[in-house]
Amino acid sequence: MTACIFDLDGVIVDTAHYHFMAWQKLAKELGVDLTQQDNERLKGVGRIESLNIILEIGGIPLPDDEKERLAAKKNAWFVEYIQAMKKEEIFPGAKDLFDSLHRHNIKVGLASSSKNARTVLHKLEIENSFEAIVDGTMIKNSKPDPEIFLKASVLLHVNAADCIVVEDAEAGVEAALRAGMKCIGIGNPQQLGKANLVFDHIGKLSYEILKTL
Ligand code: BG6
Ligand code: MG
Repeated sequence: MTACIFDLDGVIVDTAHYHFMAWQKLAKELGVDLTQQDNERLKGVGRIESLNIILEIGGIPLPDDEKERLAAKKNAWFVEYIQAMKKEEIFPGAKDLFDSLHRHNIKVGLASSSKNARTVLHKLEIENSFEAIVDGTMIKNSKPDPEIFLKASVLLHVNAADCIVVEDAEAGVEAALRAGMKCIGIGNPQQLGKANLVFDHIGKLSYEILKTL
């Protein structure tokens, strides 16, 4: 391992919950009952792709301009939630893990499909914890496409095969493996079964565990 690349929403902070709250509010307006299980399909994928999944669940066809309007509405709610977020909301152990990796000369990267990633990092005051940041504004294809992780490895000047990804989304685990990287899942082992190892929380990870992969 020469680098470790972290997803943001649901791995470093519980913004995955804010995304879910905002999507659920929009789904309700559309008459769609969005369940926690449905939400697993939204994790890690881009904004419009997420909306498309909700519309597919509801069997609702819409023109592109209407999709853009609804996606912007959901985003406005999400932005409102994260504006109120405190830096203390970072998951316990996350910052210590980044510091420990740096002490062991492991590069630390961030790869988030979110166009709001930099705002969240700024709120948590951890922008400086990463040698490279790739967010939703910098990619063409969202997870499960490997583009985002390959881009992060290029910016970190490391080989993909020497990177370990930390992900909470099924689409993210798939993207990491397709990039030729190892992957640690954060969440439910049944959901993230393809990952090399699964933990329920980032606080359980350490340099010692990561280097065994
Ligand atoms: C990912 C989240 O990080 O970013 C998804 O897991 C979200 O739930 C996606 O849809 C896009 O986020 P944004 O902030 O650009 O709408
Ligand atoms: Mg995530």
